[in-house]
Amino acid sequence: LPDGLALTPPMGFNNWNATGCDINEQMIRDTADIFVSSGLKDAGYEYVNIDDCWAEPQRDPVTGRYVAHHERFPSGIKALADYVHGKGLKLGIYTSAGTETCARTMPGSLDHEELDAQTFADWGVDYLKYDNCHNQGRPAVERYTKMRDALKKTGRPIVYSICEWGQNKPWEWGKDVGHLWRTTGDITDSWTSVVSLFKQNAPLAPYAGPGHWNDPDMLEVGNGGMTDREYRSHFSLWSIMAAPLLIGSDLRKATPRTMEILRNREVIAVDQDALGVQGRVLRDAGGRWVLVKPLANGDVAVALFNETEETATFEVTAAELGLPKRPAYVVRDLWAHRSFESAGTFSASVPAHGTVMYRIKPGARNWWRQPPLPEYG
Ligand code: DGJ
Repeated sequence: LPDGLALTPPMGFNNWNATGCDINEQMIRDTADIFVSSGLKDAGYEYVNIDDCWAEPQRDPVTGRYVAHHERFPSGIKALADYVHGKGLKLGIYTSAGTETCARTMPGSLDHEELDAQTFADWGVDYLKYDNCHNQGRPAVERYTKMRDALKKTGRPIVYSICEWGQNKPWEWGKDVGHLWRTTGDITDSWTSVVSLFKQNAPLAPYAGPGHWNDPDMLEVGNGGMTDREYRSHFSLWSIMAAPLLIGSDLRKATPRTMEILRNREVIAVDQDALGVQGRVLRDAGGRWVLVKPLANGDVAVALFNETEETATFEVTAAELGLPKRPAYVVRDLWAHRSFESAGTFSASVPAHGTVMYRIKPGARNWWRQPPLPEYG
């Protein structure tokens, strides 16, 4: 949506991949606390989002409004939003563009769009994920547009996430309807899922840009079904594809290695780059993928992704990456956190399921260094 929101891909948390329906307000509060205490907030994570199952099965009989689930959210959503806002963070919520949500534990918003959008705005909600279950076969564009208009009418800035799983090619109409749209079915905590979603989302690069992003679903980093190397690939691929970075694991149980992945600021900077271009596939030689993403300051980010089961050697040239011709380039390795100089052929040996990420700057190492200060006194 061209309204100034989500100019870079949204970053935050959503409980679904970790808990399914088993959510409660304590987890949301704890997550907000950990965002602040662990440095995740400083790294850019902002939205703390609640998924399915947060409401009572029945609307309020008098007002028709949603009622927060008495056991899971006894303090109510408004109090939770106040708490999250008090930490300098934002709160997200969820419902479906249907008669019920997917888990069938609560009503959907179909034909209640204005009242529900107003309720969310009154509570101080900052983000809505709008799912696609029990939609009565009604056209997607109509259903999602209706909620867009209802959210707009509230006057509150609310990031609007279209979750219709890529079924009606939302990349073709989503730009004027929401800030992001799911391009795929649900992620699972497995390597085959990450690879499959990557392959579905990558060709859609031309449709993404500031305020309108492809969404290959939330992160599984930390949920335990993959190796750390695979989780680093997952995080690298999502970042070079300018995907939303929504943490999907229980941060109360996060290992130092999980935190190290999620807090990698150099990789996050690629995802969040102001130019807002989704990286594209330069080549795919038998599962040895090279992706390239131009950045606002003239650097390019490169991901060398080894989908295969064997260590592979990669080589890519400055010309292939569209870099201007220079006598030298400075290469930053975004996982090793080391820089080196190159004459213009960039190579790496990448282990099975691994990804090497480089940020390449045209020019020699001392091009941007400040000259040393003169001796004092
Ligand atoms: C389907 C969505 O794609 C998931 O991300 C999650 O929100 C579930 N529905 C919740 O029921």
